[in-house]
Amino acid sequence: MRRVSLPALKEGMKVGRNVYSAGGQMLLAAGQRLTSRTIARLAELGFTGIYVEDELAPDVAPADMISEDTRAQATRLVASILEHGHKPSGEGKVLAAEAIRAVVARIVGELLQQPRIMVDLSDIRSHDDYTFSHSVNVAVLALVTGMALGYPYSTLHNLGTGALLHDIGKMDIPLQILNKPRPLTAEEYEFVKRHAAFGAEIVAGRGDFGTTVTNIVLQHHERYGGQGYPGGLKHKDISPFAAVTSIADTYDAMTADRVYRRAHQPHEAYEFLAGSGNHLFDFNLVRHFLHHVAAYPTGTVVELSDRTVAVVTGNQPGQGTRPRVRVLWDGLGMLLRPPREVDLAGETTLTVTRALAEDEIAGLPKP
Ligand SMILES: [Fe+2]
Repeated sequence: MRRVSLPALKEGMKVGRNVYSAGGQMLLAAGQRLTSRTIARLAELGFTGIYVEDELAPDVAPADMISEDTRAQATRLVASILEHGHKPSGEGKVLAAEAIRAVVARIVGELLQQPRIMVDLSDIRSHDDYTFSHSVNVAVLALVTGMALGYPYSTLHNLGTGALLHDIGKMDIPLQILNKPRPLTAEEYEFVKRHAAFGAEIVAGRGDFGTTVTNIVLQHHERYGGQGYPGGLKHKDISPFAAVTSIADTYDAMTADRVYRRAHQPHEAYEFLAGSGNHLFDFNLVRHFLHHVAAYPTGTVVELSDRTVAVVTGNQPGQGTRPRVRVLWDGLGMLLRPPREVDLAGETTLTVTRALAEDEIAGLPKP
């Protein structure tokens, strides 16, 4: 299966992975056929693409790092915390500390059970869902990095909690500003920047989560070279846990469609971080993060350096830009029979040169 962007979805296509609404409700079940109505509904809800089964890679299924159930539970929890915060009365501005601890323990527990951790899935969120699912993604991505760094369980738990709550200060920012479809004015931007300090206050005052968590929330927009906010902190003055969270935050924000811009492809976000040196982030932390991220997630159709075209069938840690692929077309766009399975990790003369766009894929002969 592969991720197909919304404009390229057609009636009769088979849904590859369950699709959930922002509230954690199942909208489409895997195996179901798309109709013009369901496609219109996806568009209405702000989805930019979903996974479908197709003939290019029928046996290939990208796996999430945590279960659907845990992801949905965590998303609902973050949604309920942030939405309560936006009620004018301020009612419910209490952090459900026990529920937060429990869901983070579930996420950490599931990640620790994975034999090989690889971020190998493209984004399938809707616009409405952004802040909530973003928080869960940042927690998972920060934890993947923390595990690569060898952090013990208690540290991972604190890191996951801080990362999950990193944007909690946004409950004090008006929704008109947060969801504004145009660039913010200078004043609005200055106000949005205060979410880091607002959040730290909330976490320290109501959550009793400890300094690691508070520092993550306060410092997740600090940057290695001192370009960040609110403190303009540099290098080792930034909490390493906040630094890990800021890398996860940046990667996930880049790969998500936002109201004001289209998403970057996973390989663009990968290359951005790989080329970021010790400028914005501590590059040692970036390296640990990228060790577990696929530049070309499973199901991506890619061109190789010999002009052949292949579909990505798998990724492994440490080989982020060298996936396993199934070469389906030769350099002239003719079907290869039978297709050729290649592991680029062992085939070092061959590299991925680019990911194909949807219209290019549609123009290729089908197996
Ligand atoms: Fe933030």
